[in-house]
Amino acid sequence: MTELPKPGKHHNAASAQANVATRADYCGVILPERSDRGHIRSFVLRQGRVSPAQQRACDTLLPRYGIQYATQLLDLTQAFGRDAPKILEIGFGMGDSTAAIALAHPENDCLALEVHTPGVGSLLNLIDAQQIGNIRIIQHDAVEVLRDMIAKEALDGVHIFFPDPWHKTRHNKRRLIQAPFIAQLVQKIKPGGYIHAATDWQDYARQALAVLSAEPLLENTAAGYAPRPDYRPLTKFEQRGLRLGHGVWDMVFRRV
Ligand SMILES: C[S@@+](CC[C@H](N)C(=O)[O-])C[C@H]1O[C@@H](n2cnc3c(N)ncnc32)[C@H](O)[C@@H]1O
Repeated sequence: MTELPKPGKHHNAASAQANVATRADYCGVILPERSDRGHIRSFVLRQGRVSPAQQRACDTLLPRYGIQYATQLLDLTQAFGRDAPKILEIGFGMGDSTAAIALAHPENDCLALEVHTPGVGSLLNLIDAQQIGNIRIIQHDAVEVLRDMIAKEALDGVHIFFPDPWHKTRHNKRRLIQAPFIAQLVQKIKPGGYIHAATDWQDYARQALAVLSAEPLLENTAAGYAPRPDYRPLTKFEQRGLRLGHGVWDMVFRRV
């Protein structure tokens, strides 16, 4: 594996605004359904319990592995200290899959987005315990990170694993995978790059497949749903679901 420089060492004063992480914007805050710029948020922040270890990780490790949200384009090469393929993960949850994929693929860099503080603390602890050099975290709404920080055709791949399903019909509007968001997202992916989405909610799978199939800049790599690519680990939750006979649907689309 290429030795990764310690984050921070490569940050000069000019990049400080974008790259120095501070405590999360979202700690314990209940946000309105709509953002100040008008989009419907795909998440709610509940006052979930943050364990002391997660809190410590946010306090001590986020300055090292985090990138502060800013309304300016992020230089990804500088943020990771090297020129390598960049994978964006949206909504990493507790970060187990993120850590496993990053460890198994040291040749790639992962920019991992999550709003939930316990999850951010959990992934920071995994990064620290396993000395993972190729993950950086932004604790902010992915819609705004993409809009404001990610340059056109900057990404080699995007992972959206088990996005919140928003089961109730009246909440479906909050689902992340919708045509306007995907149209924005594909602009940020290089031609030849990919989007990989997975869900265990059949109605959302149908919607996501329809949305991704209708996007002119994407082509399906499979005839419909795709077999789970080997790099995506089975989560504990998913293993349990599969034992109970529940389905999981993967979708892998390539940017043309
Ligand atoms: C159902 S969980 C799945 C977590 C993880 N990917 C997994 O497979 O276990 C969805 C996650 O996406 C996060 N999320 C939802 N909308 C988001 C957004 N707009 N920006 C960043 N994270 C978001 C939520 O906080 C939540 O942790």
